[in-house]
Amino acid sequence: MAKVSLPQKVFDVLDFGTPSAERDIGRGLEKYFVESPAFHRVRSGSKTVLMGTRGSGKSAIFQVLARRERAAGSHVIELSPEDYSYELLSSTMAAESAGAWAKHGAYAAAWKYLIYVLVMKAVARKGMRLTKGGGREIHHYIRDNHGAQALGTLSLLVSYLKRLESIKLGPIEAGIRTRELDRLYKLEEIHNLLPALRKVLDGQRVVVFVDELDRGWDSSEDAKAFVAGLFQACMSINGLHRNLRVYVSLRQELYDDIPALYEDAQKHRDQLEKISWTEESLLEMIARRIRFSAHEKGFDVEALERAGDRACWSAVFAGPPGAARDAAFGYMVGRTLYRPRELIQFCSEALEQARGRGSRLPVPYAAIERSEYGYSAERTKDIAAEYRSQYPGLLSVFEVFRSLPPVLDRERLEMLCLELACGDVPTHGTGEWLPFCDPDDLIEILWRAGLLTAQPTADGRFLGSHQVHHLNLAAARRFRVHEMFHASLGIAG
Ligand SMILES: Nc1ncnc2c1ncn2[C@@H]1O[C@H](COP(=O)(O)OP(=O)(O)OP(=O)(O)O)[C@@H](O)[C@H]1O
Ligand SMILES: [Mg+2]
Repeated sequence: MAKVSLPQKVFDVLDFGTPSAERDIGRGLEKYFVESPAFHRVRSGSKTVLMGTRGSGKSAIFQVLARRERAAGSHVIELSPEDYSYELLSSTMAAESAGAWAKHGAYAAAWKYLIYVLVMKAVARKGMRLTKGGGREIHHYIRDNHGAQALGTLSLLVSYLKRLESIKLGPIEAGIRTRELDRLYKLEEIHNLLPALRKVLDGQRVVVFVDELDRGWDSSEDAKAFVAGLFQACMSINGLHRNLRVYVSLRQELYDDIPALYEDAQKHRDQLEKISWTEESLLEMIARRIRFSAHEKGFDVEALERAGDRACWSAVFAGPPGAARDAAFGYMVGRTLYRPRELIQFCSEALEQARGRGSRLPVPYAAIERSEYGYSAERTKDIAAEYRSQYPGLLSVFEVFRSLPPVLDRERLEMLCLELACGDVPTHGTGEWLPFCDPDDLIEILWRAGLLTAQPTADGRFLGSHQVHHLNLAAARRFRVHEMFHASLGIAG
């Protein structure tokens, strides 16, 4: 591995970027974005549903795609958190139990209506009323129905749902009810415009991104119907024309929390793209950021490019005394669940530590060690919080591993799980789920959440859910608490 050194002026401005893509995009994300095969499949439109854990890069892909689409002249519609409010939906809509309401289908129809209206608004530009090829009809419809006093995005969706709800649950004669419902489900108001839209799309492209659906997620009936309905709508709209693409991002836990979605996803498995990272691609992600910072300071990055990602890393982070020059990378990435946000955070904290002590490049290994506790404590809390609706109180289950040895054999772990389920080892706020878990269930939950890694064969590596999607956990004899949690739980490696 070639050795490169970076001058002090690079240290002064070195910056790994911000932890979320929405903020990173304004600071150069496009320039240091790692283009994975997953990104290319999404970009080509062959995959439209992006799945990934928190901080894995769902928004990054959407942000970069949106920029590129805009630059190519496409209309881009981005639906983000302000546009949905699960609490508002639950308080506005009647419960499923109030009648034969079939919410899932109602939400799917309302989503289709909303997205088609937004798409037609985007293409119905001024001057279009004069154009041929479908534009005129669309222009008239938008002008007459969604003109000056246009509703906001969520209001548009809710108003359609309300129309469905009032017919479903209102005092209407049965025959008329069926007819009216049929009209609404078939989107009669806009259905006859779809051929016109198709023609317009021959010459224009519209891309819709729906991201951050998990913000404010409350696991309610409406929240689930909202997301499952969106999924269905997305599949149907994507069949209209190759120049109209609706992309949705979903967090794994959200997906697991919605049975209706799971069934749909079986049918549309080919549309799903799962984001995954490896140590090498994470190294590339950080090396690109280092080069970007160096370049900003006028440093000749060609030498850095030539030297490769590992040398780039070693120019910034020193290894422990006596170890390989890039050993700090293995140490830090081994304390992540392979999510870029984690590595960015850990690296940024180590850098701050070094700056605080007036160090020079490369960042001394001691700065990494000093930043570990803060990083680990924050990650432990955040991971538990990711499961707050599915497994409330998970943090208190993590706490039970405090000060235990890092490796537990199956018998010991099973006993601990039993004690947890029976309440012999006390936890907080877990009453809804923990007493119903048998040891295998709990081991699976802790492995999926990232706390535990498992050793599938007697002398094999310990593997976590961030490294392999499936593992025969029943066959694993030994488990290890993942290193990311060690500092925060006082576990001595
Ligand atoms: N392919 C990539 N190349 C470079 N940086 C990336 C890439 N993917 C993600 N990142 C960076 O990782 C961090 C987290 O990414 P992002 O905000 O996209 O995660 P997310 O999956 O949307 O998370 P959340 O579920 O919290 O919304 C950001 O700083 C982002 O710029
Ligand atoms: Mg995001």
